[in-house]
Parts: sequence; C-alpha cells; structure tokens
Amino acid sequence: MTIREVATTPFPDQKPGTSGLRKKVPVFQQPGYAENFVQSIFDSLDGFSGKALVIGGDGRFYNREVIQTAIRMAAANGFGLILVGRGGILSTPAASHVIRKYGAFGGIILSASHNPGGPTEDFGIKYNISNGGPAPEKITDAIFARSTAIARYLTLDAPDVDLDRDGETIVGGATVRVIDPVADYAGLMESLFDFDAIRALIGSGFRIAMDSMSAVTGPYATEILERRLGAPAGTVRNGVPLPDFGGHHPDPNLIHAKALYDEMMGADAPDFGAASDGDGDRNLIVGKGIFVTPSDSLAMLAANAHLAPGYARGLAGIARSMPTSGAADRVADALGIPLFETPTGWKFFGNLLDAGKATICGEESAGTGSDHVREKDGLWAVLLWLNILAVRRQSVQAIAAEHWARFGRNYYARHDYEGVDAAAADALMTELRARLAGLPGTAIGVLRIEAADDFAYLDPVDGSESRHQGIRILFEGGSRTVFRLSGTGTSGATIRVYIERYEPADGDLGRQTGDAIADLIAAVEAIAGITRHTGRTAPDVVT
Ligand code: G1P
Ligand code: ZN
Repeated sequence: MTIREVATTPFPDQKPGTSGLRKKVPVFQQPGYAENFVQSIFDSLDGFSGKALVIGGDGRFYNREVIQTAIRMAAANGFGLILVGRGGILSTPAASHVIRKYGAFGGIILSASHNPGGPTEDFGIKYNISNGGPAPEKITDAIFARSTAIARYLTLDAPDVDLDRDGETIVGGATVRVIDPVADYAGLMESLFDFDAIRALIGSGFRIAMDSMSAVTGPYATEILERRLGAPAGTVRNGVPLPDFGGHHPDPNLIHAKALYDEMMGADAPDFGAASDGDGDRNLIVGKGIFVTPSDSLAMLAANAHLAPGYARGLAGIARSMPTSGAADRVADALGIPLFETPTGWKFFGNLLDAGKATICGEESAGTGSDHVREKDGLWAVLLWLNILAVRRQSVQAIAAEHWARFGRNYYARHDYEGVDAAAADALMTELRARLAGLPGTAIGVLRIEAADDFAYLDPVDGSESRHQGIRILFEGGSRTVFRLSGTGTSGATIRVYIERYEPADGDLGRQTGDAIADLIAAVEAIAGITRHTGRTAPDVVT
C-alpha cells in the first residue's frame, strides 16, 4: 500500500489545554483539522517505528470517523501494531491500562471528557505516553509548535477497519487488532479489590445505584458490578453509551446527576450511589443521605485504602491538585507520608506515580486514582469505596462522621462562571495578580489575609517548573480561596473560584456548606470584583 503525503496548512488554534485538544465537532470536521493534529502528535515523537499504538474513545459523536483516520495515519507513519477497543470504545482509564499492559509506545484517546457530545457539541484528541498517562507539557508544547508549522500529513488508502469485530486486519505495514475494551480493565480491578467481600456485602442486601450517564462506563460497570460482583440487573442505569449521551452533560456532579442525588437523599434510598463521566475517569460518590465531596472522598479513600488488598502495604504518598481541599493533607500527616500539591490536571501526577512517590492522587473536580494506571479512574474510586464499605460494614455517613471527628472538616465548594468574555476574564486575573503583593495583612470583614501568591510548581522528579497555575488567597485559620481560568472549555472563558474553610475536629462539623463558607463567598467579590469585570452576579455552576 502506498503511503500518501498530503499537503496541508496549519490551523492556528491547536494548542492542547488541561487535557488534550478540545473543540466543537464542526471545528474538527474541517478538512485536515484532525489530520493536522494527529500528524503533529506523531511528528513530536521519536522512535515509534514498528511499535504499538492504542486508539480508543468515549464513543461520542465523530469518534468512529476519527478512529479510522488515526488508524490510517498511524500505519502510514510507521507504527507496527494498532490496538483499538471494539466499537472504538476505551474508557480513559482502560486506555491507560491497555497502553501499560501491552507495552505500547503510547495512545490516542478521543474524548472531551464530561463535555456534551453530538454534531454541534464537543470532541477532543489527547495523546498519552508509554507510562499510560497524559503527555507532559514538554510534549504538548512540541505538538502545538508543530501544528503551527505543519505542511504535510501521512496517510494511506485502505478500507475502514471493522471496529465491531474482534480480530486482526493488516493496514499498510501495520497490524490493527480490535480488542475487548472491558476485559483487561475488569481483570485489573479484580486484582486490586476484594471481590469476595464486595460480593458478600451485596449478597447481604446492600443496594447500589450506578449512573453511567449514557457514557463509556456503561459496559464496564455492567460487567464488573452486575456480572462479576452479582449486583442485580438495573444496578447500572443509563448503561448504554450514546453518541450524544442522551442529550445530557455526562458530568457526574450534583447538577447533571441530580436524579441520582435526589434518589440518594430520599426515604428509600439505596446504600451507595455513584456516577461517572463521559470517558470514565471521574466519579461522584453519594451515600444514603450524604454527598461526599471529591476532596473528602480522596481523603477518606486514602485513610482507608489499606483495607483493600491492592493497597494493604500502605501508601507511599498522596498527591492532590492545588485547588483540591487540604483534607488529604491531614491524612498524609497522620499516616506520616508525604503530600504533594500539584497544578490542575492529571498530567502532573505522572512523574510522582512513576517515581513511586505517590500512591493515591486526586482532584476536586471528581477525579481520584492511584498508581494502577496513569489516569484518574471513576470505577476504581467506586470499587475502593465498596471494598472499604464491605470491610467496615458501616454506612457512608458513619464513615464520614468518624473521619471528620478525627481530622476536622474542610467545608468546600467551587463556583464556576461559564462562557465569560475571555478579555474580561483575563483582565480580572491580571488585576488580581498585580494586587497580590499588597494583600497579606488586609482584613475583609472578619477574615484576615495571611498570604497570597500565584501558584508555581517545581516537579520534584524532573525539575520542570510550571508557573501561573492559579491565584491563592490564604486566610488566617486555614481558610482560602483560589482563582483560576479553566483550560478545558470550548467557548469563551470559565472562571473557577474554589472556596474552602477548615473546621477543626472539635468545631461544628455538621453545618451546611453554604453557611459555613458564606463569609468567604462575600470576600471573593471584594477581592476579585467578578461582577465589576464580567457583569455576572452569581456563578453558573456550584459544585
Ligand atoms: C478540569 C478540572 C481539572 C481536570 C480537567 C480534566 O480542568 O478542573 O481538575 O483535570 O478538567 O478532567 P479545567 O477546566 O479546570 O482546566
Ligand atoms: Zn473525564
């Protein structure tokens, strides 16, 4: 088969964000757009000739088309083996595992995570390296640089590969192998957790509600929870992945998974509720009558992880993104292990996991995971919770209450202002940055600012530095607010404000979060002038 060199011209907007390149589908449908980006990835890599590449996605609209494009281009560029999930499906954590298990050179994951899907909604392409994790900034910067100068891409003429049948096809010089997207991942989960104990818990009448949000975890959750762990049929809701996620946002939070939340707060609630996002890396945990914030979930999982066989040896360390609450810090302290504070985005955890410095990682944005893969992992968090519940035989509520009584409670909320004019958002951040030096010592109502900075991270493994990762305003007593702009949005800017108040173990642990952080919310406006800059008087989303 002859390799074709197709002339192309650069698109100016192919800069990967927090998690790969995300754009509206019509942007990706422009002739050459996906091809340019995929070629820019390959041009930024060295030494993959004859090696394996994993390709899969979350099943959203345009997934299958880009998979066929990527297969032809990977073959034309010299990959020897291309592993593709059946139906074009691989959840993000499953893709990470497949890359690691088969020793692949890397992987291309097609997803826009929790963003909506459909002909006018979002699509995304992300490159993961051989450790199974998102490409570090060194590589994403190179991809962007390449995309601004690209003049040709390589492809070949070959019929579409049948993605719906397991087996091998030859495309150019490459073998394309369609694999079961679930089996390897389910096996990994079985190796980490005590499936017998969870099965016994379920057998005792413990009821689970898992909302897969018509996204990629449907087949994974059905196989693991219903087939392997014996939960009754119907435990997994919205379990069939749909190209438009049924018209919903596949984002497991209290707004988009409201039906599940309402059920969990009701009189006849199941014992445990969970949801996952578009590509399966996020999780929502709701016990009967209690929502567990992702920051708390990270802390509670870390404090109890030793109860699961895969973590019985203990944790080497915990890592959290900077905006994530400090709840995990107190657990790390009690366990006598290091706590790493990284910029937002899973790519910053990779080095720590590879170096064995951290075992468990998490972000406030519903991401939790461990060194079993190099992505956050929604079902992993669900299964670790179930393993802990199976051993402790207490309710989620009781586990949370005991946790707070030991470590204190970090009341926490995130306020998002979405679709804000980008120039106004930039002006807000610039103004805030300029005022940082003068803020310490200032009082706002009863609050006194202790420190203020623009977060920078020095990677302890490779020495790389990442600056401007969010503005932190730290108050006396351990409360804080953080301001940053989203790096995953596809229209305008999103301002994220993270608000946290620490209540010591002997304080009032049973308050409503809104009440507990009311004075901090008032301080946010005084500090940043969101209304003055954007005209907005309230956030669009509170999580
Ligand atoms: C958001 C989350 C971040 C997460 C990323 C990818 O990024 O805040 O924690 O890693 O999505 O799932 P942001 O839009 O804030 O840049
Ligand atoms: Zn996701």
